[in-house]
Amino acid sequence: MSLSLIGKSISASATLKLNETAAILKAKGEPIIHLGGGEPKSKAPLDAIISAVSLLNSGEVRYTPADGLPALKQAIIRYTEEFYNRKVSPLNVIASSGAKQAIMVALQAIVNPQEEVIFPAPYWVSYSEMVKLCGGVGVPVLPEDGSFYPALDDIARVVTSYTKAVIINSPNNPTGAMYSEQFIAEIVEFCEKRSIWLIMDDIYHRLIFDGRRPINCYKYAKDLTENSKLIVINGASKQYAMTGFRIGWAVANKRLIEVMTNIQGHQTSGPSAVTQLAAVGALNGLQSSVESLRMTLENNRNIMMDRLQAFDGVKVTKPDGTFYCFADFSHYNKNSTKLANFLLDKVRVATVPGIEFGLEGYLRLSTCGSVKDITEGIERIKWALDPNSPNELYIGQRKLVRDWL
Ligand SMILES: Cc1ncc(COP(=O)(O)O)c(C=O)c1O
Repeated sequence: MSLSLIGKSISASATLKLNETAAILKAKGEPIIHLGGGEPKSKAPLDAIISAVSLLNSGEVRYTPADGLPALKQAIIRYTEEFYNRKVSPLNVIASSGAKQAIMVALQAIVNPQEEVIFPAPYWVSYSEMVKLCGGVGVPVLPEDGSFYPALDDIARVVTSYTKAVIINSPNNPTGAMYSEQFIAEIVEFCEKRSIWLIMDDIYHRLIFDGRRPINCYKYAKDLTENSKLIVINGASKQYAMTGFRIGWAVANKRLIEVMTNIQGHQTSGPSAVTQLAAVGALNGLQSSVESLRMTLENNRNIMMDRLQAFDGVKVTKPDGTFYCFADFSHYNKNSTKLANFLLDKVRVATVPGIEFGLEGYLRLSTCGSVKDITEGIERIKWALDPNSPNELYIGQRKLVRDWL
């Protein structure tokens, strides 16, 4: 079949594929525990629902401007003032169908074929594929010190004349690492000096633990004019548990937003009016659901850490935020895809192989499920891998006998 070279080079989203497999097994009545998910289980804020329903009740749901409804842009402007202490104009804002589309359209607006985009590894699965979709080349960099915290030198080392952009995601999917204020200051300054676009993917910036405060990248920018190459991404999906609403946004200089709007206008048009109004409700409404989600996630992180630390063969770094934990299981199997398939097959626990995020030997375990999911999920994994566990395990009425160790 004569498919395009770019089309053929794009792999399926590992996380979406995993969700599908887990859903199929669950529908068949299998006792699946899903530690692979990337979405909170809490409900969308009531203000979001009321706002969306009022539009639906009117029966008049129309096209929206390609860069988003004025009401949503105003809510994003207010959000930017509150969290970034920065006043921007509606022309500096685009609302997209998810932060995913905001990043994609930004990359399409700046990356030429062959140009390189650097991002620290492990990295969110879509960055590499999005860069490929632009004909560009993704350059993942693992921190040289073996940690999940990049240093400026790690990035500076791989900059070439082809480097067009750097993407920073902190706190990070999949590690939960929140990069230091010093690193953010350095990378903002570095990119400004070298005239490299800097995409700050702040989608998890409020879901942080142990008394941390969100970091404001603008604080370190010297150039806050319309020449600034700083692009800030955020969205409703994670903080408001509104993944299915598909609303994200970008804040950047006016010319870039104009080009992104032109691209988005031909790609999908403006996001759905219903879900844009839901996002307006969420952004302008009561914020208690965000704090309650954050506290639940911190508690879940603590439980996950307790369980994993009691697991001899597993090495784990304490996540600073998000709802992921990226644990080193290489003692049991260096091939993370084989290990994830094995765990799904033997004990019906879904996890995401580290290789999908650019680091082999690790599994991404999600903490957005219930405490019971976390404790039982880790218990099943331990039983499957640890030769000192008893030979039998009950999952409900089902008795499993371990015949592989
Ligand atoms: C790091 C990161 N950026 C962006 C996104 C996309 O979010 P959205 O659902 O708003 O498209 C995700 C979703 O998993 C993510 O983990």
